[in-house]
Amino acid sequence: MQLQDKRCVVTGAASGIGAAIAQCFAQEGARLMLADRDSEKLAAMVARCQQFGAECHGVVADVGEVSGATAAVDACLARFDGIDVLVNNAGMLTQARCTDITLEMWEEMMAVDLRSVFLATQRALPAMLAQRWGRVINVASQLGIKGGAELCHYAAAKAGVIGFTKSLALEVSSQNVLVNAIAPGPIETPLIDGINTAWKKAKAAELPLGRFGRAEEVAPVALLLASEPGGNLFVGQTLGPNSGDVMP
Ligand SMILES: NC(=O)c1ccc[n+]([C@@H]2O[C@H](COP(=O)([O-])OP(=O)(O)OC[C@H]3O[C@@H](n4cnc5c(N)ncnc54)[C@H](O)[C@@H]3O)[C@@H](O)[C@H]2O)c1
Repeated sequence: MQLQDKRCVVTGAASGIGAAIAQCFAQEGARLMLADRDSEKLAAMVARCQQFGAECHGVVADVGEVSGATAAVDACLARFDGIDVLVNNAGMLTQARCTDITLEMWEEMMAVDLRSVFLATQRALPAMLAQRWGRVINVASQLGIKGGAELCHYAAAKAGVIGFTKSLALEVSSQNVLVNAIAPGPIETPLIDGINTAWKKAKAAELPLGRFGRAEEVAPVALLLASEPGGNLFVGQTLGPNSGDVMP
């Protein structure tokens, strides 16, 4: 019960890595406000977390929009009278050569994968700073470090998340608000369903571990960062559960 009674928001919690983090946090005694734009899957995930005995609620929100990002955090503040842990996990992926990325695609990517992190975090910070305890965990991607062909917009957004993480960590760590990122390698989730099988096979073969990760293998990294004393000394770090694809 490493997160007993900790008030946590997880965005993009209805699927994949966010769902695994929500379940892991529920099993560790957290009180959860799960946010996602997919209302059906969100309701199922809320019910699943409740099965573990967790107090868990859902808020249907598009965190790429100001109203959605603030609603996700506000729901936690209102329901639990505060917030201890914010996991900015919601994200989307599209693929196109740079010459084919439309302004609309670029703007959508920035809104969902980068702006959401800023908006939700900014909303959560005053409460965390006031209580002199907080953990912000941003799910970036190793592509924000190494880049990826046909992924200029995605890699730029994720590199932005890592820069945001380091900068905010410098601002607030002295007040015991710790901000870190997770940069997963390829993880088997619906996000990468659309990528062709031949590419996935070749990619898995080039990984030192020889396989993609599973969402359940990423969730404990978020737990480490959220927990005490395990997360106490991580400040502005980017942890890499990536099957060995990137070694800093
Ligand atoms: N799967 C991978 O290989 C991989 C690798 C590195 C990083 N990531 C990152 O991990 C995070 C989670 O991805 P995943 O693989 O679990 O994907 P996923 O598609 O399984 O889950 C993403 C969830 O986020 C929600 N979501 C998307 N946009 C949203 C919005 N604007 N507002 C609210 N909810 C929204 C979706 O409805 C979905 O439930 C993302 O930030 C992704 O970029 C994934």
